[in-house]
Amino acid sequence: MNTSDTKTTDWVAQDRLHVWHPYTQMFTAPAPVPLKRAEGVYFYATDGRRILDGISSWWVNIHGHSHPRLNRALREQASKLSQIIFAGFTHEPAARLAAQLVQRTPTNLNRVFFSDNGSTAVEVALKMASQYWHNRGQPQRNLFIALEHAYHGDTVGAMAVGNVPEFHSRFSDLLFEVRRVSQSTASIEEILEREGRRVAALIVEPMVQAAGGMIIWPVEFLRHLREITRQHHIPLIADEVFTGFGRTGKMFACEHGPIEPDLMCLSKGLTGGYLPLAATLASEEIFEAFLSEDRSETFFHGHSFTANALSCAVALESLALFDESGCLDRIAQLEKLFEKRLDSLTDLPRVKETRGIGALAVIELNPQKQGGYLDESGPQLTQAFLERGVLLRPLGNILYFLPPYVITDEEAHGVFDIIEEVLSAGV
Ligand SMILES: Cc1ncc(COP(=O)(O)O)c(C=O)c1O
Repeated sequence: MNTSDTKTTDWVAQDRLHVWHPYTQMFTAPAPVPLKRAEGVYFYATDGRRILDGISSWWVNIHGHSHPRLNRALREQASKLSQIIFAGFTHEPAARLAAQLVQRTPTNLNRVFFSDNGSTAVEVALKMASQYWHNRGQPQRNLFIALEHAYHGDTVGAMAVGNVPEFHSRFSDLLFEVRRVSQSTASIEEILEREGRRVAALIVEPMVQAAGGMIIWPVEFLRHLREITRQHHIPLIADEVFTGFGRTGKMFACEHGPIEPDLMCLSKGLTGGYLPLAATLASEEIFEAFLSEDRSETFFHGHSFTANALSCAVALESLALFDESGCLDRIAQLEKLFEKRLDSLTDLPRVKETRGIGALAVIELNPQKQGGYLDESGPQLTQAFLERGVLLRPLGNILYFLPPYVITDEEAHGVFDIIEEVLSAGV
């Protein structure tokens, strides 16, 4: 064994002894694959294996790993300023990024509140909506409306508006009251009729409910939600943590409507998937409700790493790359390729249904035993794909492919060939 092998064995052993991995049953899960580096759409493992990142590393990566432009932006910013307190101080990357986000998102959104991950972006939106009503003299408005199958993150407030039983039911005692609606729009009307004056906001993942099962909805539903919340003067929160930055074929999923939400949550693709950063965008009307001589009406929320300068600089470069490399055109091409390949999978006996939007391809499988996130097919398929050099991590019986946009046609076809092979083999 040479020195570098010894070193690898060493830190892999330390991982086994000391690290608790997320969404991982540490008793039964296979050992994690030790990676040496990642570049473009590939991971390179310490044992020499190359693995294609078919889920953009938990839906964050858009330009590929170790992109020279993003690396350079990071290095340059690190030589100037990396992290400072963001209350009472500011810096150029944050201010420029806020301006860019305001320019690219629906026109009514004018203020940007930075945090550092998707869940915090959601917490911020929920707290803003709640305090908006307090500051406006309607503190009884403390009830949120959210959708069935919603997923908004793993912090307590985000879990409260979420609705994936496998993730959330154990914590139900901790969660605040939420009214749940389905696509049957009548139920929203019913809630608003009955207790509209108690409602603080409605939160929705526009167009695609991701972790809840990659459910794609008709655009009319989004329009209807906007219409009805506007009629009742209820803020609409668009959680675009998953859908933002091109995933659904538009820069933001709200553009499909098009609709203007009152609050919008962004993270994941914001830095091209490079560094933790999140933003909650608010309308001027929401922002103005916090302006007061009375300091108790301040929005008392902030995180140590709010608006990290390295993250903001990389986010700015990622947006520049997005425009220059024609990401939306590339996503449109991928959407067509995915459509064709999905069509050819529908006849396989394991496949219940296929669907897609933008750079997302979904293959819903007939459940094995229990269905849902804990369906046995999930871990079995993940292993089968890994053995063939592809990272795909089904949500139970929901298999999906969501690569960085820099994937080539040939590589994308290669992944679909492997999917076809694995599903035909009856794994
Ligand atoms: C729609 C949506 N909102 C919020 C989150 C939470 O983001 P994070 O994992 O960065 O906390 C996710 C994560 O998958 C998401 O899909």
